Amino acid sequence: MNSTDYHTSFTIQKTESFVKQTLQNAESGHDWWHILRVWNNAKLIAQTEKVDLLVVELAALLHDIADSKFNNGDEEIGPKTAGDFLKSIEVEASVIEHVQKIIRNMSFKSSFDKEGFSSKEMKVVQDADRLDAIGAIGIARAFNYGGFKNREMYNPDIAPDFNLTKEAYKNSVAPTINHFYEKLLLLKDRMNTQTAQKIAAERHQFMEMYLEQFAGEWSGIK
Ligand code: ADP
Ligand code: NI
Repeated sequence: MNSTDYHTSFTIQKTESFVKQTLQNAESGHDWWHILRVWNNAKLIAQTEKVDLLVVELAALLHDIADSKFNNGDEEIGPKTAGDFLKSIEVEASVIEHVQKIIRNMSFKSSFDKEGFSSKEMKVVQDADRLDAIGAIGIARAFNYGGFKNREMYNPDIAPDFNLTKEAYKNSVAPTINHFYEKLLLLKDRMNTQTAQKIAAERHQFMEMYLEQFAGEWSGIK
């Protein structure tokens, strides 16, 4: 290992333990296991992309370090927490800035904002995070989140809203099944990389099967 490699792996190890510790008591949609899955997805996707792997890994590890949803809507708390930590372990300023921009701009709700930053590294991490919102795990996370928010699983009288604004999306109290139509089923066509598109296609199909089965059981046909 040369000294740059050594420094990089030290940085990643320190970040890993910081994130693990910080998210110890997080709700299960954004817990350490979510971060670990996103980190693994990001490393897999990065294999076929020309990216700065350090930026990708740090952004994957830190992307949910502080969620505005649980901090009175403060959208700067995540980038700030990540930046302060990376500074404390003496990561290069340009890397810190890039990681902060990724965290600020990668979420589904940020995609409602028009301006916005983009980079190849951000696209990889965004795909990695989006993959974890779909498929079997995506289904589990959605119902878990719905339960946490005390929402109904399904209500045939409340139709999905396909044209949600950013505010309406954040404040939605609709049943969890609606979330599939408002977000989860849209993700496969929003993947940036080919690797993620391929994985997403399979996970998408699984969700469609699930929804069909759910509807069948609900109406007593299946
Ligand atoms: P983002 O930060 O990209 O907008 P969230 O933090 O809102 O994503 O979502 C985290 C997890 O919780 C995802 O798996 C997402 O599908 C789920 N989730 C978010 N909003 C809802 C909702 N209204 N109903 C069910 N699940 C939700
Ligand atoms: Ni995430």
